[in-house]
Amino acid sequence: MKNIFLKTQYDADKRGHFKKYGGRYVPEMLIPALENLEKSYYEARKDPKFTQELMELFQNYSGRPTPLYFAKNFSEHLGGAKIFLKQEGLNHTGAHKINHCLGQALLALRMGKTRLIAETGAGQHGLATATVAAKFGMKCTVYMGKVDYERQRPNVFWMERLGAEVIPVMHGTQRLKDAVTATLQDWIANVDDTHYLLGSALGPHPYPSMVRDFQTIVGLEVKQQLKENYGINKPDVIIACVGGGSNAIGIFNPYLEDKNVRLIGVEAGGKGIGTVGNHAARLQKNPKVGVVEGYKSYFLQDKDGQVQNTHSISAGLDYAGIGPEHALLWEKKRVEYNYVVDKEVIEAFNLLARKEGIIAALESCHAVAYAMKLAPKLSSKKNIVINLSGRGDKDIFIVADALKDKKWKEFIKNKSREKN
Ligand SMILES: Cc1ncc(COP(=O)(O)O)c(C=O)c1O
Repeated sequence: MKNIFLKTQYDADKRGHFKKYGGRYVPEMLIPALENLEKSYYEARKDPKFTQELMELFQNYSGRPTPLYFAKNFSEHLGGAKIFLKQEGLNHTGAHKINHCLGQALLALRMGKTRLIAETGAGQHGLATATVAAKFGMKCTVYMGKVDYERQRPNVFWMERLGAEVIPVMHGTQRLKDAVTATLQDWIANVDDTHYLLGSALGPHPYPSMVRDFQTIVGLEVKQQLKENYGINKPDVIIACVGGGSNAIGIFNPYLEDKNVRLIGVEAGGKGIGTVGNHAARLQKNPKVGVVEGYKSYFLQDKDGQVQNTHSISAGLDYAGIGPEHALLWEKKRVEYNYVVDKEVIEAFNLLARKEGIIAALESCHAVAYAMKLAPKLSSKKNIVINLSGRGDKDIFIVADALKDKKWKEFIKNKSREKN
């Protein structure tokens, strides 16, 4: 694949505005760093050596192309449309996050930076950042809300083994948005030698466009694999979970101009979208525009514009904002945005494991759960592609809790009693 950088009608303008969304709303001292990043990024895009180096890393380091797998048992069990799984969880480090980490690490090196910093929720982006930092010999600090630090402990452990410093953020709601704030503060203090390796298709310009571009490989591979491996011209439906929006925009991007392909983003409905603070579904009920963390988009906020608390069983979707291109795609009705609740996510997790032998990340199980509702309503001639954005190893504690697994609880108790 020679050209991985696409242009669509939904692209940002030169100032990084996706119509009324996006932009660059940051303290004055970050403007030169963002301008430098933008300039370096657009130069790198034109440099065939950059694309070649990135493609080599995708292939030989991360293991791309990831398989596009026809989930025959799962499809037959649901009865209806055929379901294909884009297995991003089979990437090195276990999720799609490595795609934009490799791209941004190469850029950081081009800009002469020696240190990477990142925010992380589920820990997958932090893990991928720590991984590329180790590979390229860079220093690395990862910020994580204290709640996420505790519930995604396996990833904290691995980040530290990779040489990263992982800092639990104790203020605010101790979740992803507080980790973003802490990372921005670090960047302001250390902008000369540090690149902020942002983990989703959000933040100030050029991040939303740049992260999308590095994730577009997912959709481009789907196009090729559907044709070459299954003789299918295009999918009827693509479903992806939406936190900040990087895995979703990556798989949607090559199909945005083709209105015959139905695109569905699935938000975290948590414990139900009826009550404040119990979900992270930004686009479901009277979405509110705000400017937070450097960009304009929809944020869960109270009547005074304060960002609301969120909840999701999956740390990676537990975030009050959504990337600005998704805001535009929602407004233009090009992408449908729906939600599922935690309970449905666990059901999807179980069913996929039992029918296909695939342990998927809880974030990705949001897309699976929505497909479980949609597939039976469609004919077997229709094809659905689900972006399985990550694998579920990191979720072992959460799933064991949700399933009230007594043997696991006993094991943890015994482990904690063991003498060193
Ligand atoms: C496996 C997985 N999928 C999805 C997400 C959500 O992020 P995004 O919406 O940027 O793809 C995360 C975030 O941590 C994740 O770890």
